[in-house]
Amino acid sequence: MDSAKSYATDPAIESVLFTREQIAARVKELGEQISRDYAGKPLAVIGVLRGGAVFCVDLIRQISVPLELSFIEASSYQNGTTPQTEVKISISRGFTAKGLNILIAEDIIDTGHTLKAVRERLLAEGALSVKTCCILNKPARRQTEIDVDYIGFDIPDEFVVGYGLDYANKYRNLPYIGILSRSVYEK
Ligand code: IMP
Ligand code: MG
Repeated sequence: MDSAKSYATDPAIESVLFTREQIAARVKELGEQISRDYAGKPLAVIGVLRGGAVFCVDLIRQISVPLELSFIEASSYQNGTTPQTEVKISISRGFTAKGLNILIAEDIIDTGHTLKAVRERLLAEGALSVKTCCILNKPARRQTEIDVDYIGFDIPDEFVVGYGLDYANKYRNLPYIGILSRSVYEK
Protein backbone atom coordinates (compact mmCIF):
# COMPACT_ATOMS: atom_id res chain seq x y z
CA MET A 1 0.00 0.00 0.00
CA ASP A 2 1.22 3.53 -0.72
CA SER A 3 2.11 4.95 2.70
CA ALA A 4 1.37 8.52 1.54
CA LYS A 5 -2.24 7.67 0.78
CA SER A 6 -2.88 5.56 3.84
CA TYR A 7 -1.64 8.14 6.35
CA ALA A 8 -2.56 11.41 4.64
CA THR A 9 -6.06 10.85 5.94
CA ASP A 10 -4.90 11.85 9.46
CA PRO A 11 -6.59 15.26 9.90
CA ALA A 12 -3.58 16.63 11.82
CA ILE A 13 -1.41 16.19 8.74
CA GLU A 14 -1.93 18.82 6.09
CA SER A 15 0.17 17.01 3.50
CA VAL A 16 2.83 14.35 3.20
CA LEU A 17 6.23 15.76 2.22
CA PHE A 18 8.21 12.51 2.01
CA THR A 19 6.85 8.99 1.99
CA ARG A 20 8.41 6.06 3.80
CA GLU A 21 9.83 4.89 0.47
CA GLN A 22 11.34 8.27 -0.43
CA ILE A 23 12.97 8.54 2.99
CA ALA A 24 14.40 5.02 2.77
CA ALA A 25 15.89 5.71 -0.67
CA ARG A 26 17.55 8.93 0.52
CA VAL A 27 18.87 7.35 3.75
CA LYS A 28 20.43 4.59 1.64
CA GLU A 29 22.20 7.19 -0.51
CA LEU A 30 23.47 9.04 2.57
CA GLY A 31 24.74 5.77 4.06
CA GLU A 32 26.61 4.95 0.87
CA GLN A 33 28.20 8.39 0.73
CA ILE A 34 29.22 8.21 4.41
CA SER A 35 30.65 4.69 3.90
CA ARG A 36 32.84 6.00 1.08
CA ASP A 37 33.97 9.03 3.08
CA TYR A 38 34.86 6.99 6.18
CA ALA A 39 36.48 4.03 4.44
CA GLY A 40 39.47 2.96 6.52
CA LYS A 41 38.67 5.53 9.24
CA PRO A 42 37.12 4.57 12.58
CA LEU A 43 33.67 6.14 12.88
CA ALA A 44 31.48 6.99 15.86
CA VAL A 45 27.88 7.87 15.04
CA ILE A 46 26.08 9.91 17.67
CA GLY A 47 22.31 10.21 17.44
CA VAL A 48 20.64 13.26 18.94
CA LEU A 49 17.74 12.29 21.20
CA ARG A 50 14.96 12.29 20.90
CA GLY A 51 14.11 13.49 17.40
CA GLY A 52 17.18 12.08 15.67
CA ALA A 53 16.80 8.55 17.06
CA VAL A 54 14.64 7.15 14.25
CA PHE A 55 16.85 8.53 11.48
CA CYS A 56 20.02 7.45 13.30
CA VAL A 57 19.07 3.80 13.63
CA ASP A 58 18.01 3.66 9.98
CA LEU A 59 21.18 5.42 8.86
CA ILE A 60 23.66 3.15 10.65
CA ARG A 61 22.17 0.11 8.92
CA GLN A 62 23.01 1.73 5.56
CA ILE A 63 26.63 2.37 6.56
CA SER A 64 28.96 -0.48 5.64
CA VAL A 65 32.13 0.58 7.51
CA PRO A 66 32.67 -0.44 11.16
CA LEU A 67 31.22 2.08 13.59
CA GLU A 68 30.29 2.61 17.19
CA LEU A 69 26.96 4.09 18.25
CA SER A 70 26.08 6.48 21.05
CA PHE A 71 23.36 8.99 21.81
CA ILE A 72 23.35 12.49 23.20
CA GLU A 73 20.31 14.37 24.42
CA ALA A 74 19.64 17.91 23.30
CA SER A 75 16.57 20.01 23.87
CA SER A 76 15.68 23.48 22.72
CA TYR A 77 11.93 23.15 22.31
CA GLN A 78 9.43 23.14 25.16
CA ASN A 79 6.20 21.65 23.84
CA GLY A 80 5.82 24.21 21.10
CA THR A 81 6.81 25.25 17.63
CA THR A 82 8.97 28.25 18.56
CA PRO A 83 12.63 27.45 19.12
CA GLN A 84 14.52 28.72 22.12
CA THR A 85 18.13 29.55 21.57
CA GLU A 86 19.30 27.98 24.82
CA VAL A 87 20.25 24.35 24.21
CA LYS A 88 20.46 21.79 27.01
CA ILE A 89 22.85 18.92 26.30
CA SER A 90 23.37 15.75 28.27
CA ILE A 91 25.86 13.03 27.44
CA SER A 92 25.39 9.55 28.85
CA ARG A 93 27.80 8.62 31.61
CA GLY A 94 30.69 6.51 30.45
CA PHE A 95 30.78 8.04 26.96
CA THR A 96 33.90 9.88 25.96
CA ALA A 97 34.28 11.80 22.72
CA LYS A 98 38.04 12.01 23.11
CA GLY A 99 39.90 10.86 20.01
CA LEU A 100 36.78 9.88 18.04
CA ASN A 101 35.82 10.77 14.48
CA ILE A 102 32.20 11.64 15.16
CA LEU A 103 29.23 11.90 12.84
CA ILE A 104 26.20 13.52 14.47
CA ALA A 105 22.85 12.15 13.23
CA GLU A 106 20.03 14.64 13.78
CA ASP A 107 16.44 14.96 12.58
CA ILE A 108 16.42 18.55 11.38
CA ILE A 109 18.48 21.71 11.26
CA ASP A 110 16.26 24.72 11.74
CA THR A 111 17.84 27.81 13.38
CA GLY A 112 21.07 25.82 13.72
CA HIS A 113 21.55 26.42 17.45
CA THR A 114 21.09 22.78 18.49
CA LEU A 115 23.51 21.28 16.00
CA LYS A 116 26.07 23.98 16.66
CA ALA A 117 25.88 23.46 20.44
CA VAL A 118 26.18 19.67 20.13
CA ARG A 119 29.09 19.95 17.73
CA GLU A 120 30.96 22.44 19.94
CA ARG A 121 30.38 20.32 23.03
CA LEU A 122 31.82 17.21 21.35
CA LEU A 123 34.85 19.14 20.13
CA ALA A 124 35.32 20.56 23.63
CA GLU A 125 35.24 16.97 24.96
CA GLY A 126 38.21 16.17 22.73
CA ALA A 127 36.68 14.68 19.55
CA LEU A 128 39.19 14.39 16.72
CA SER A 129 36.64 15.45 14.09
CA VAL A 130 32.91 16.17 14.12
CA LYS A 131 30.77 16.00 10.99
CA THR A 132 27.01 16.50 10.85
CA CYS A 133 24.17 14.69 9.11
CA CYS A 134 20.51 15.77 9.15
CA ILE A 135 17.64 14.15 7.35
CA LEU A 136 15.96 17.58 7.01
CA ASN A 137 17.19 21.12 6.47
CA LYS A 138 15.05 24.27 6.81
CA PRO A 139 17.48 26.81 5.31
CA ALA A 140 15.04 29.74 5.50
CA ARG A 141 15.21 29.77 9.30
CA ARG A 142 18.94 29.62 9.92
CA GLN A 143 20.15 32.03 12.63
CA THR A 144 23.69 30.84 13.06
CA GLU A 145 26.49 29.81 10.78
CA ILE A 146 27.06 26.08 10.60
CA ASP A 147 27.88 23.76 7.74
CA VAL A 148 25.96 20.51 7.53
CA ASP A 149 28.04 17.82 5.86
CA TYR A 150 25.20 15.49 4.82
CA ILE A 151 21.60 16.58 4.20
CA GLY A 152 18.65 14.38 3.29
CA PHE A 153 16.16 16.95 2.03
CA ASP A 154 15.75 20.72 2.02
CA ILE A 155 12.25 21.68 3.14
CA PRO A 156 10.20 24.89 3.17
CA ASP A 157 9.52 26.85 6.36
CA GLU A 158 6.74 24.61 7.67
CA PHE A 159 6.42 22.68 10.93
CA VAL A 160 6.85 19.01 10.11
CA VAL A 161 6.31 15.82 12.09
CA GLY A 162 6.94 12.11 11.71
CA TYR A 163 10.04 9.93 11.29
CA GLY A 164 11.18 10.94 14.78
CA LEU A 165 10.03 14.56 14.64
CA ASP A 166 7.38 15.55 17.15
CA TYR A 167 4.88 18.15 18.15
CA ALA A 168 4.43 18.07 21.96
CA ASN A 169 6.10 14.64 21.88
CA LYS A 170 3.50 13.19 19.51
CA TYR A 171 3.65 11.95 15.90
CA ARG A 172 7.23 10.64 16.18
CA ASN A 173 6.10 7.19 15.05
CA LEU A 174 4.62 8.26 11.71
CA PRO A 175 6.66 6.42 9.04
CA TYR A 176 6.49 9.43 6.70
CA ILE A 177 7.31 13.16 7.12
CA GLY A 178 4.31 15.45 6.90
CA ILE A 179 3.38 19.08 7.44
CA LEU A 180 1.42 19.55 10.66
CA SER A 181 -1.84 21.43 10.17
CA ARG A 182 -1.69 24.88 11.68
CA SER A 183 -5.05 24.19 13.34
CA VAL A 184 -3.23 21.78 15.69
CA TYR A 185 -1.06 24.50 17.25
CA GLU A 186 -2.75 27.78 16.33
CA LYS A 187 -5.72 27.87 18.64
P1 IMP B 1 17.36 24.36 15.80
O1 IMP B 1 18.19 24.40 17.05
O2 IMP B 1 16.49 25.56 15.67
O3 IMP B 1 18.15 24.08 14.56
O4 IMP B 1 16.31 23.25 16.00
C1 IMP B 1 16.60 21.97 15.92
C2 IMP B 1 15.62 21.16 16.74
O5 IMP B 1 14.30 21.75 16.78
C3 IMP B 1 15.47 19.83 16.09
O6 IMP B 1 16.34 18.91 16.69
C4 IMP B 1 14.03 19.49 16.32
O7 IMP B 1 13.92 18.74 17.51
C5 IMP B 1 13.31 20.80 16.51
N1 IMP B 1 12.56 21.22 15.29
C6 IMP B 1 12.88 22.20 14.42
N2 IMP B 1 11.99 22.29 13.43
C7 IMP B 1 11.09 21.32 13.66
C8 IMP B 1 9.91 20.89 12.94
O8 IMP B 1 9.51 21.39 11.89
N3 IMP B 1 9.25 19.85 13.50
C9 IMP B 1 9.65 19.23 14.65
N4 IMP B 1 10.74 19.59 15.33
C10 IMP B 1 11.46 20.64 14.84
MG1 MG C 1 15.91 17.44 17.89
